[in-house]
Amino acid sequence: MKFFIDSANIPMIEKFVDMGIVDGVTTNPSLLAKEGANHPIDHLKKILKLVPGPVSIEVVATGYENMLEEARQIAKMGTNAVVKLPMTKDGMHALHTLSQEGIKVNVTLVFSATQALIAAKAGATYVSPFIGRLDDAGMDGMDLIRDVVQIFRNYSIKTEVLVASVRHPIHVIDAAKLGADIATLPPDVLDKMFMHPLTDIGIKKFLDDWKGVEAKYGDIFKPPK
Ligand code: E4P
Repeated sequence: MKFFIDSANIPMIEKFVDMGIVDGVTTNPSLLAKEGANHPIDHLKKILKLVPGPVSIEVVATGYENMLEEARQIAKMGTNAVVKLPMTKDGMHALHTLSQEGIKVNVTLVFSATQALIAAKAGATYVSPFIGRLDDAGMDGMDLIRDVVQIFRNYSIKTEVLVASVRHPIHVIDAAKLGADIATLPPDVLDKMFMHPLTDIGIKKFLDDWKGVEAKYGDIFKPPK
């Protein structure tokens, strides 16, 4: 499973890029709005340079022509820029045109298997089912991942299933078990995925046990003077 970071926060993205665990990034207008310091275009260009993989950038225009214009500007921002389009009729029209131009598109705000199928048919590189928001609305978001993964498999559809609106590590494990291609992870969820109390207890025990050895020999990894 590929890990994308669902954030526009540069220090957060950099932290995980430096660990070699980031395959891409997804941004959206709400995430960018939180990063007020720079002009959004300058900010996005920094993210594009930093990330060794696709970075999804969402159009804010509505209507076919305006979406196309923004999408083409986004695509020119970097070779790893992916245009994020909403799951609307205008969005699918723009997606079809852009896919014929070789521009990669991530279809966002997908809440049903029919929407995912339409997006794939129109030429999406990625579809983003929002599982946390479905859970919030009293439905099981993971059922949608199960359906979309199975349908895409049945027809050998190449569009990748990008699990979005992830709220906790169990979402990631369940989606991975179902064979979803990508999970886009808010930094706090990724932080939690590192944690296990037995790891902390284990480190403490090893270091405590080592104190006696150090008392006798000093730091054995330092060359003797
Ligand atoms: C995905 O690309 C979206 O940016 C994101 O996952 C939305 O998540 P939210 O429901 O937590 O806002």
